[in-house]
Amino acid sequence: MKLNKSTISSNLTLAIAKGRIFEEAQGLLERSGIKILDYSSKSRKLTFETNHKNLQVLVVRAGDVPTYVDHGAADMGITGKDVLLETSAKNFYEILDLGISKCRMMVACRQGHNNVGITTRVATKYPKVSKQYFLKKGVQAEIIKLSGSMELAPTLGLADQIVDLVDTGITLRENGLEATDLVFDVSSYLIVNKSSMRIFREKIQDFIRVLDSSLRG
Ligand code: ATP
Ligand code: PRP
Repeated sequence: MKLNKSTISSNLTLAIAKGRIFEEAQGLLERSGIKILDYSSKSRKLTFETNHKNLQVLVVRAGDVPTYVDHGAADMGITGKDVLLETSAKNFYEILDLGISKCRMMVACRQGHNNVGITTRVATKYPKVSKQYFLKKGVQAEIIKLSGSMELAPTLGLADQIVDLVDTGITLRENGLEATDLVFDVSSYLIVNKSSMRIFREKIQDFIRVLDSSLRG
């Protein structure tokens, strides 16, 4: 099922997380008949027209997608479940699991040092989900917020454990770490601003239908 060019007649804006999510989302959109025009990964451009003249695409950082959609600066967004669980933004519906950019949020520690007690220091870019996870486990966790390269923290004695995304496991292995527990599975979702959903219900539902049918097909 492809999106009919006449389906979208009001201006809709879709914010997509840049990087790996963008590349996979682009493929999914193309299978749905939506082509992002003039896109190149080397380009510095941040807004793109599509072959549907009233659908525009924005390229933003993964963590900023909920903010754009929450404020209505974008009607719809595509970003990772990790970002959606960490954000405090609420003014959107989580509509569809797109099954792209799959990985896992994991707890990891130094290889052979999986003997954590009832207190632990945890380095992560995801303080909210980490706090909730350890609370549920009955472990008192001191959360140390980092923006990246979490894998360094246990080796340097900054933390006992990390909570981070794992795909192939290569980053953990190359830094002397091992995954110990799964926090949750991650993939990217389509989210829609609540007011946009009300105002553009029909158009957005058509958009959702074609994406959903591409996922099934
Ligand atoms: P930002 O640009 O906001 O700093 P980032 O540098 O973390 O984000 P990426 O590393 O490209 O950007 O991650 C963006 C999203 O892609 C993550 O939020 C997650 O949903 C997904 N992701 C991250 N790492 C992987 C991975 N190794 N394999 C698959 N998906 C991943
Ligand atoms: C992500 C994540 C891990 C790595 C895991 O980092 O933060 O470091 O991927 O993938 P792996 O299990 O396949 O090794 P990314 O490559 O996005 O780099 P960055 O977040 O540090 O920019």
